[in-house]
Amino acid sequence: MIEPDHSYAVEARGISKYFGGVAALDGVDFKVHWGEVHALLGENGAGKTTLSNILAGIYRADSGEIAVDGLTHEVRTPAQAIEAGIGMVHQHFKLVETMTVAENVHLGWPDTPTLVSQRVLVDRTNHLMEEIGLHVDPTAKVWQLSVGEQQRVEILRVLARGAQILILDEPTAVLTSHEARDLFKVMRDLVSGGRTVIFISHKLNEVLEVSDQITVLRDGVHEVTRSAEGATPRELARLMTGEERTLEVEHREITGETVLQLEGVTASNDRGVVALSSVDLVARSGEILGIAGVSGNGQTELAEVISAMRRVDGGTITVDGEDVANGLVRKVTDLGVGHIPEDRIGVGIVGSASVKDNAVLRHYWTEGLSSGVTLFRQAVVDFATRLVEVARVQTRSITATAGQMSGGNQQRLVARREALLATRVLIAVHPTRGLDVLAAQEVQTAVIGQRDRGAAVLFISDDLDEVLLMSDRIAVMYEGRIMGIFDRVDADREAIGLMMGGHTLEEAMAK
Ligand SMILES: Nc1ncnc2c1ncn2[C@@H]1O[C@H](COP(=O)(O)OP(=O)(O)O)[C@@H](O)[C@H]1O
Ligand SMILES: [Mg+2]
Repeated sequence: MIEPDHSYAVEARGISKYFGGVAALDGVDFKVHWGEVHALLGENGAGKTTLSNILAGIYRADSGEIAVDGLTHEVRTPAQAIEAGIGMVHQHFKLVETMTVAENVHLGWPDTPTLVSQRVLVDRTNHLMEEIGLHVDPTAKVWQLSVGEQQRVEILRVLARGAQILILDEPTAVLTSHEARDLFKVMRDLVSGGRTVIFISHKLNEVLEVSDQITVLRDGVHEVTRSAEGATPRELARLMTGEERTLEVEHREITGETVLQLEGVTASNDRGVVALSSVDLVARSGEILGIAGVSGNGQTELAEVISAMRRVDGGTITVDGEDVANGLVRKVTDLGVGHIPEDRIGVGIVGSASVKDNAVLRHYWTEGLSSGVTLFRQAVVDFATRLVEVARVQTRSITATAGQMSGGNQQRLVARREALLATRVLIAVHPTRGLDVLAAQEVQTAVIGQRDRGAAVLFISDDLDEVLLMSDRIAVMYEGRIMGIFDRVDADREAIGLMMGGHTLEEAMAK
């Protein structure tokens, strides 16, 4: 018998995973030693979560093998993964809100006797917290806890099951910077006790701060595994983002007047946490102002405050000099503001309604389609038919339900519909996310067309290549702030990449 090699905590070889024929992971090798914090770094969509889900037994790889502590393990279910010592804390927590911390920590734990008192559960939880150095009130109900505390409960829950290899998927995304520091300390303590932590992030600063080793994934491919020591943000940014492009976009000098202006805009996200801090922005007629940044840094909220879908806590927003902050969606629409939202199913498209109704969804007030409360049926049919044609939406019929169309067709429909409304301002939020190359180019073309007709376009994307391709000017957003604004000619992709990771303009230029 061959002796197992215990030097690696995890050794994944040649892992591939396909979704609908598209490779999310393409022959990825991933080796992690015992006793290290190993960062899995990559842009959105690079495959980090997919790889983690495979290690945690949630997805099955289409090919490749996984050895845990030198033994080739079957990790086909979360139970098998935990048996092999692998536990994962997901981006979206899986706690039972109405139960206490102690109950959640013990939930589904096979060692838990079936009938135990709260007292026993609380004692055991306290014991575990002492051992691990993570503290939360064990008697509190989960719904009473902050997000940071809930995350601690998740970590405790996984460690309570004996996980020796802890996978944290973008754990800092929901934390304040102070809470993140605390988490990093816990991570360092865990590895100094011999465990292994796989830390998923797209924030360069954090990765360099807390990790021993760094593996970079890009588009499902393993780019590099290297020591964090001596690694530079510039090098990592380059490995993360790569370079490629397809569409040619013409960029002319911008001479148009100011259309959209934000001054000192502050707003909160759905959890009441500050999402925009004192944002100043100007967008002029005939330009695409790109907003570069990793998702979740305030871009969604920025789009929403402009289209009056979210209240501002302070500051002013004007469209052609008219104040629109905290106004009515109808008024903003009348001023010529269109919005291609991030969440096309939740916001852009009503899946259960027909293609026709979706086509006119935001055009009810358009002249010729209605008079007062009466819709002109034939005019609506004509309008929808034209929109479907122009947008090249593939559907059996305009009376078919919109939810049955592919994501690409839904997005084409929303993009054209909103572009028609957007005579003055078009806000496009991750408009090509999840689309294949052709559908993405059609949406990009619709956006460029609207710019060329004189709209001021706010183009929000977490794909830096796409922002560089599309934009006449580029603003970088991080944690709700504008870190800097570049004219296209001065835009340095590596500097922007660094600023997306939280570096200031000065730091980024010095590196
Ligand atoms: N359940 C799924 N169904 C279809 N596609 C998926 C699924 N999960 C992930 N993908 C796709 O796989 C790729 C990698 O996604 P993911 O692993 O979530 O990336 P990351 O965590 O690095 O942001 C993306 O293109 C994503 O759209
Ligand atoms: Mg992910």
